[in-house]
Amino acid sequence: MEDLPQGMPRSDDVSVLSEDVAVGKKVAPNRLVYQAMEGCDGTRSGSPDELTVRRYLRFAAGGPGLIWFEATAILPEGRANPRQMWLTESNRDSFAQLIEKIKEICMKENGYEPLVICQLTHSGRHSKPNGFPEPLIAVNKKIFEGEHPLGSDRVLSDSYLDALPERYAASARLAESVGFDGVDVKACHGYLLSELLSAYERPGRYGGVFENRERLLIDSVKAVRASVGYDMIVASRFNAYDGYPYPYGLGGSDIPGVPDLTEAKKATADLVAAGAELLNVTMGNPYYNNEVNRPTVFAKTEEPIASAVRMIKGAGEIAATCRGIPVVSTGWSFFGALAPNVAAGCVKAGLSAMVGFGRQTFSYPDLARDIVTGRGMRTDRLCLTCGKCTELMRAGSTPGCVVYDKEVYLPLYREKVMKKGERS
Ligand SMILES: Cc1cc2nc3c(=O)[nH]c(=O)nc-3n(C[C@H](O)[C@H](O)[C@H](O)COP(=O)(O)O)c2cc1C
Repeated sequence: MEDLPQGMPRSDDVSVLSEDVAVGKKVAPNRLVYQAMEGCDGTRSGSPDELTVRRYLRFAAGGPGLIWFEATAILPEGRANPRQMWLTESNRDSFAQLIEKIKEICMKENGYEPLVICQLTHSGRHSKPNGFPEPLIAVNKKIFEGEHPLGSDRVLSDSYLDALPERYAASARLAESVGFDGVDVKACHGYLLSELLSAYERPGRYGGVFENRERLLIDSVKAVRASVGYDMIVASRFNAYDGYPYPYGLGGSDIPGVPDLTEAKKATADLVAAGAELLNVTMGNPYYNNEVNRPTVFAKTEEPIASAVRMIKGAGEIAATCRGIPVVSTGWSFFGALAPNVAAGCVKAGLSAMVGFGRQTFSYPDLARDIVTGRGMRTDRLCLTCGKCTELMRAGSTPGCVVYDKEVYLPLYREKVMKKGERS
């Protein structure tokens, strides 16, 4: 099979995707990852609710090697919405039951158990714990605040940040106790640890030079590593490139759209030295430009294939600097039915050890099973990359696939997005 335009390799033989992958002290039964996909459908107190359980059991039946469980708050004020997952001492049983069921159903349907990683987050600037913005920022940023900068009461103090590594560690211990295989210290998409990575103008220990900007991420990974068992996987999903212009984002260069991964590579080396055993490379800030992270057929700013290829090749550049640590690449939904062949080509070329699907898991939760059993992907379930799942989330509703899971999500879309549009 010939390589694709954009220099993306592909392979007729996709069996490499069915191989085991060593992740820390554990093993994923195949190379397919279901990326963290927030459903905004938990209870007010942070437990998985009916739709959450439905979603994860569909994912589990679909047979991925690893489920990257969605953004889960470490503190109530850092929740991105009032229904965001939030793991606490008082709701741990609900998480434990869900993890047990995920493992059980995947075993029953596919004959193996997936690894399940809990994504720990503080939403920082994008916190909305009560359904309206209550930003907690690392530094004022004009691209988000325009001519009306947020007040100093919204800028998190050094002493607040000093306390966070222990908060990540406490959440990681809870995650371990309920049966997660690992935790992700999330530093992507503009949330707190991601924003700190580009806090060039913040004074003090957490801003300015790179060592300061990455300090909280690295200290949090170290704190988590030190407080969980030796076989608990410590991971980080981090932005290698924010996709907005210097000096406001990480990884910007003088050429628009072309990342400079120098700092992302330094962060990678420091994450690994701090104890990270699994990296998930992503790009973009969906609150600034959704298209960099979620390539869509309706893209206005660049060809969507260019956004997808940038993420996958970027992951490849990062992977080349940390051989031995598996790297998950992002951006696979846009490849549709070609994804298995391109992913197999990329894995063989060393661009990433594992490949992560986001929106495709909403429209086609069985995709991993169809790939690893050699059936190939169905064409009547492919994510259209229409972005309606994101629209639902931005409307304060619960995202899912409006097209192929329409019994649940089309009525919500009509009610929460279309009617709202008619009114405005
Ligand atoms: C509705 C929705 C929810 C998401 N939730 C999360 C999340 O909780 N954590 C995260 O790191 N990324 C989240 N993402 C980003 C995805 O994990 C993924 O990076 C993105 O969709 C691009 O991959 P894709 O092209 O395969 O969809 C979300 C994306 C969407 C559309």
